[in-house]
Amino acid sequence: MEQYIIKGGNPLIGEIEIGGAKNAALAILAAAIMSDEAVTVDNIPDVRDINVLLQAIEGIGATVERIGKHTARITGRTIKSTRVDYDYIKKIRASYYLLGALLGKYKRAEVALPGGCNIGSRPIDQHKKGFEAMGAEVFIEYGMIVSSAKKLSGSHIYFDMASVGATINVMMAAVLAEGNTILENAAKEPHVVDVANFLNSMGAKIKGAGTDVIRIKGVKALHGTEYSIIPDQIEAGTFMLAAAATKGDIVVKNVIPKHLEAISAKLIEIGCQITEEDDAIRVFGNCELKHTHVKTLPYPGFPTDMQPQITVTLALSQGTSIVTETIFENRFKYIGELSRMGASIKVEGNTAIVDGVRKLTGTQVSAPDLRAGAALVIAGLAADGYTIIDDIVYIERGYEEFEEKLRSLGAQIERVTNEKEIQKFKLKVC
Ligand code: EPZ
Repeated sequence: MEQYIIKGGNPLIGEIEIGGAKNAALAILAAAIMSDEAVTVDNIPDVRDINVLLQAIEGIGATVERIGKHTARITGRTIKSTRVDYDYIKKIRASYYLLGALLGKYKRAEVALPGGCNIGSRPIDQHKKGFEAMGAEVFIEYGMIVSSAKKLSGSHIYFDMASVGATINVMMAAVLAEGNTILENAAKEPHVVDVANFLNSMGAKIKGAGTDVIRIKGVKALHGTEYSIIPDQIEAGTFMLAAAATKGDIVVKNVIPKHLEAISAKLIEIGCQITEEDDAIRVFGNCELKHTHVKTLPYPGFPTDMQPQITVTLALSQGTSIVTETIFENRFKYIGELSRMGASIKVEGNTAIVDGVRKLTGTQVSAPDLRAGAALVIAGLAADGYTIIDDIVYIERGYEEFEEKLRSLGAQIERVTNEKEIQKFKLKVC
C-alpha cells in the first residue's frame, strides 16, 4: 500500500501552476458524449477520477483519444450502450453525470446507483425530481437507476437545495429537451458555469448559469467543439492554506481570483497577506495566525471542499475558532486523526470547536477521503517530526502530482511503499 512520508517544519516557498478543475472536467467529459461529432477537451487534470470516467465513457462505446496528458477527444457517435456498469460508479460517483447526458441524447440511460461515501449519504433525489419533471420515468432496480422517456419536455423545476450535481445533471438533459426549462435554486459554483459554457459551445442555449435561475431553450442536436477547462479552485485553495499553515510564501498561478474570494477573505482574516494579479494569487503566511469562524456554504460562500484544509490551519492559530459544516453530514471524520497529531478540536454535531495549539507533532495517520487526506498532508508539513499518511489513493483522486508540486515548494515529502523506503527517506532528510 502506498503512503506519503513527510518531514515537517519547512515553510512552503515558491510558485505553483494550478491544473484544470476536476469537478468541472468530470461533468464536461460526460457531456461531451452528447454530440455525434468530435469534442476536444483541454486542461483536464491527470487524476484517477478523470481516468476512470474516460474508461466508463469508452465502456459504453464512445471513441476516446488521449491526445496528451491533459487533452482528450471524445466522439459520441459510436456509442453502443446506454448502460454504465457498477464498477465505474463504485470507483467514482460522478459517473452519474452520464445519466443526464445519455437521457438527454438517447432518452434512456441505466447507471448504477452511487452509494454514500465517507462524507455523507449523498442522495440523488433532486436529480430524479428534475428528470421526472421533464417527463422521464426514473426507477431503481437491481442497484441501477433506470430512466427513459418517449420525449423530454421543458419544465419549471425548483430544487429543494442548491445541488451542484443535480443542477448539472438536469441541465444536461434539458439541453436536448423540447421547449424551455427553468431551473430555480440552481447551484452557482464556477464549475456549473463552466459546464454551461461548454454546452453552449456545442450549440446549447443556456442562460443564467452562475445565478440561482438557469434558463435552457431545448435544441435538436449538439455539434462538436474544442474547449478548455477552468482552473481548479480547490487545488489552488489547498496550496493557499498550505502556505498559511507552514508560514510560507506561495504564488498560485493560472487561477481565477474571483473563484477564490471566500478563501482569500478567510486567509486575510487570520492574518495572512494576499496579493492578486489577473491569473495569480500570492499568499504570505509568515505570521502568527489568528482564530476566526468559518461556515461552509454553496458558492460564493466558503467551499465545503476547503473545510478540512482550513480546520488544520486554524488548529495552529491563536485562540478558539468555530468551523460549521452545513453541506455534508459527516465531513469531520478526519478530526480524530488530527487529534493524534496534537490538535485540540471538539466536534459537536456539524460544528468543530478548534482550540489553537502551538504545534502539531508527526505520527502515522490515515486519509479518510480526498480533501481530508490533503488536509492531513498540510498538517504533516506543518508538524514537528515525521508523518506517515496511509490510503493516499484518496488524495490521488483529485490532486495531480501532489507530492511533486509540494517538493517544488520545499516540502520534504515522498511516496513510499515499505519500511525500507521510509528509513531511506529519514536518512536522506536528517
Ligand atoms: C459536488 O458534489 C462535488 N463533487 C463535491 O466535491 C462538492 O463537495 C459538492 O459538489 C458541493 O460543492 C463533484 O463535483 C464530482 P451537491 P455533489 O449535490 O454534486 C444534498 C470533492 O472533494 N443533495 O451539491 O454530490 C447532498 O447530500 C467532492 O471534489 C441531496 O440531498 O454535491 C449535500 O448535502 C466531495 N439530494 C448537498 O445536497 C440530491 O439529489 C450538496 O450536494 C443532491 C444533493
